[in-house]
Formats: sequence, structure tokens, C-alpha cells
Amino acid sequence: MQPNALPADPMTLMKSHRSIRAFEPTPVPDEHITEAVRCGQMASTSSAVQAYSLIRVTDPGKLDTLAELAGPQDKVKRCGAYFVCCADTRRHRLMCEQAGRPYFNSFEALLVAIADVSFFAQNLSLAFESMGYGICYIGGMRNDLPLVIRTLSLPEGVFPVYGLCVGVPAEDPSIRPRLEPDAVMFSDAYPDDETLLAGVARYDETYRHYLGQRGAQPNGWSDAMIARNSRVVRGEVGQVFKDQGAALA
Ligand SMILES: Cc1cc2nc3c(=O)[nH]c(=O)nc-3n(C[C@H](O)[C@H](O)[C@H](O)COP(=O)(O)O)c2cc1C
Repeated sequence: MQPNALPADPMTLMKSHRSIRAFEPTPVPDEHITEAVRCGQMASTSSAVQAYSLIRVTDPGKLDTLAELAGPQDKVKRCGAYFVCCADTRRHRLMCEQAGRPYFNSFEALLVAIADVSFFAQNLSLAFESMGYGICYIGGMRNDLPLVIRTLSLPEGVFPVYGLCVGVPAEDPSIRPRLEPDAVMFSDAYPDDETLLAGVARYDETYRHYLGQRGAQPNGWSDAMIARNSRVVRGEVGQVFKDQGAALA
């Protein structure tokens, strides 16, 4: 698929999303990036705090470091543009300091910033996808947050949350099915555990079928979630964020 493809209507675009993990070696032009950032910025933001920053990484040495620490994940240095999405309370801290007022650090401020950067990043991603690019978030970036922080000289109050690969797709993977809407949307009260697990069981069947069609081991979604949740994953992230100036309580 080429960039600048005819834009699909927004709902079709959203329902055709799939992460792209192989990219053509074509850079993403600056004007496309600026336009996508404008779209990202129009996402709702708690009380207009705009508590995020996007770092575009172009330096080959830094890209090597970020690709390596993420797994390695080669796509970090082989995509058209790589970004690090940060929850950012720095501007607020500096404004308070400049005004001679205290900055009250709180978990709420971190929560708001992480939510804010995610709304921004998802609008940004949709804008890129509407231009015909493919995207893939990179949570693997959190494998070594201190190194990310040092590599990008991130000051106190700036928290790298995930990376984002963007580029012209060099693959056309199938769409990964999701839980049924009635397994994630409830009316008036949360359902009992049996109802919840029945939704999971139905999805396991769909998921096995999807993986089988891709030629992968046809495990259920629950197998993946059990494996993921029955061990510690990146247990040091809270401490790194604390060292970076986050209040966790
Ligand atoms: C915050 C976040 C981090 C992710 N990290 C990675 C990653 O490090 N590597 C990767 O290949 N995919 C990553 N993904 C992509 C997910 O695996 C993918 O979105 C999910 O499996 C659903 O598939 P789909 O995006 O193709 O619909 C990440 C997605 C999110 C939202």
C-alpha cells in the first residue's frame, strides 16, 4: 500500500488496522509528520494539559541503541520514521517554577499524562494510517528505560511510555480479531465471573482459528494471557519512573 492512498472513511480505517512490522526503506516526509502531529494534538486532553511529547529519532547510532534494547526489534531502525512517545509533566513543572509556585507532584498527574499521551499517539497513528502508512507501537522500548532516558537526554518529569514505528508497509498481514463487543461492554453493572469467562472462551475459538490461518501454533488467547500474566514483566518500571520524578502514590 502506498502513502497518500485515498482516505477510507474513519470507521472503515479504524476497523482495518493491523500492526505493520516490515517497512519499505522510504522515509516519511516532514510535512506528513507535522500533519499527523496536528491530528494527534486534536485528541481530547484532560483539562487541556497536553501532557505529552513526541521525540522523533533520526540519529543512526541512537536508532541502533533503541532497536537493540527493544528486543532487538529491527523494525525500529528499518521503518520510515521512529518516535518515542512520552508522558510529559515537564512543562507544568517549569511553569510553576517560573511563577514561584510549588509543583504538587501526584500519581494523578502521572495517570493523566499517560492517558494523554495515549490519546495523542492513537490519533497520530490513525492520521498516519489514513495517509496509507503502517504503524507499530513498541512496548519493547520499556525493556531498558534508563538507557532510553540517557539516549534521548530526557529530563525529570518526562516518562517514555512506548515507541512508534511508521512507514510504508512492506507486508499485508491479516486483521487480528478482538473480543466480541459484548465481552467488553456491559450495562449498568460489571458482570459475574462466569459471564466474563464465557466471553473469553468464545474468543479463544476465534483466536485459534485466526492463528491457524496464519500458519502459527493455534493457541487460544487465554494461553497467551496466562503466560504473560503469570510472571513478572518489567518489574522495575515503577522505580525508574519514580527516579525520573513520578509520584506513585
Ligand atoms: C503499547 C503497545 C506496545 C506494543 N509493543 C509492541 C512491540 O514491542 N513489538 C511489536 O511487534 N508489537 C507491539 N505492539 C503491537 C501489538 O502486539 C498489537 O497491537 C496487538 O497484538 C494487536 O494486533 P494489531 O495491532 O495487528 O491489531 C504493541 C502495541 C501497543 C498498543
